[in-house]
Amino acid sequence: MKRLYDVPAPAKVNLFLHIVGRRPDGYHELQSVFMLIDWCDHLHFERLDSGAIERVDSTPGALPEDDLCVRAARALRQATGCTQGVRITLDKRLPAQAGLGGGSSDAASTLLALNRLWNLNLRREALAHIGLALGADVPFFIGGRHAWVEGIGERLTPIALPRGHLVLVKPPGGASTPQIFADPALKRDSKTATIQGFAANGNLESLMAFGHNDLEPVARALCPEVGECLHWLADQGLSGRMTGSGTAVFAPCGANPVLGPAPASWQVRVCGNMDAHPLLDWCDG
Ligand code: C5P
Repeated sequence: MKRLYDVPAPAKVNLFLHIVGRRPDGYHELQSVFMLIDWCDHLHFERLDSGAIERVDSTPGALPEDDLCVRAARALRQATGCTQGVRITLDKRLPAQAGLGGGSSDAASTLLALNRLWNLNLRREALAHIGLALGADVPFFIGGRHAWVEGIGERLTPIALPRGHLVLVKPPGGASTPQIFADPALKRDSKTATIQGFAANGNLESLMAFGHNDLEPVARALCPEVGECLHWLADQGLSGRMTGSGTAVFAPCGANPVLGPAPASWQVRVCGNMDAHPLLDWCDG
């Protein structure tokens, strides 16, 4: 029986993100299209017979309670009564506080991998339910396909998207997701968008004409670098948008874009979107 797995945890961008309501518990209801991209963290899992859950490379000073991979492993054990252990190694490549979903994707890949490593055979819906308690974006990564997303992130409709490339730009400053969502300047959208209105034909550039990101004005006010990155993309002739709660911004582009110099402190990266999550077939349902 297998004792080791190496798995990727891909990032996402939000092609648009509309805030359409607020629940009594403070979470915001949204409409968005989440797209999987081929920039990934990498995770390594080794089954431990001792029953311990270990993270060998935790950020110095970070508590295991705050580590999303450890929390995912514990949540899975709690939900199933499983007593097996694991040593988790995370090769962190995705920037934090970027709106790329890195932490949520790490948690989702942990749930998918441990479901196999521990022979739990939970179905996709059960894993997504456990994942939602860890973060609103986790069910999307468990779902494994580009998606039209509603609710706080748990209502998913798979959607076909054209293949394409994008330039991603991440300034050094980060944005705290709770702070962005709690900002009094955050505006809601009064109009409801429909999946039919978001016709997923044409290319990624033409799909950007649909909608906007309601979190972008708030993030720009809190972190002016977001606006500077968007201006830089415009100078390259590209139409950009912030992803999630930022601070990364992106713009669809050709396969080999010619880009001018950017400040050395920014991360600039050309990515492609994926057909589907590499672990799509790792659970049933
Ligand atoms: O679920 P997640 O940990 O990603 O969310 C972080 C914070 O962002 C939440 O505690 C909440 O304040 C805010 N949030 C929200 N509505 C969402 C997602 C996140 O208000 N749909």
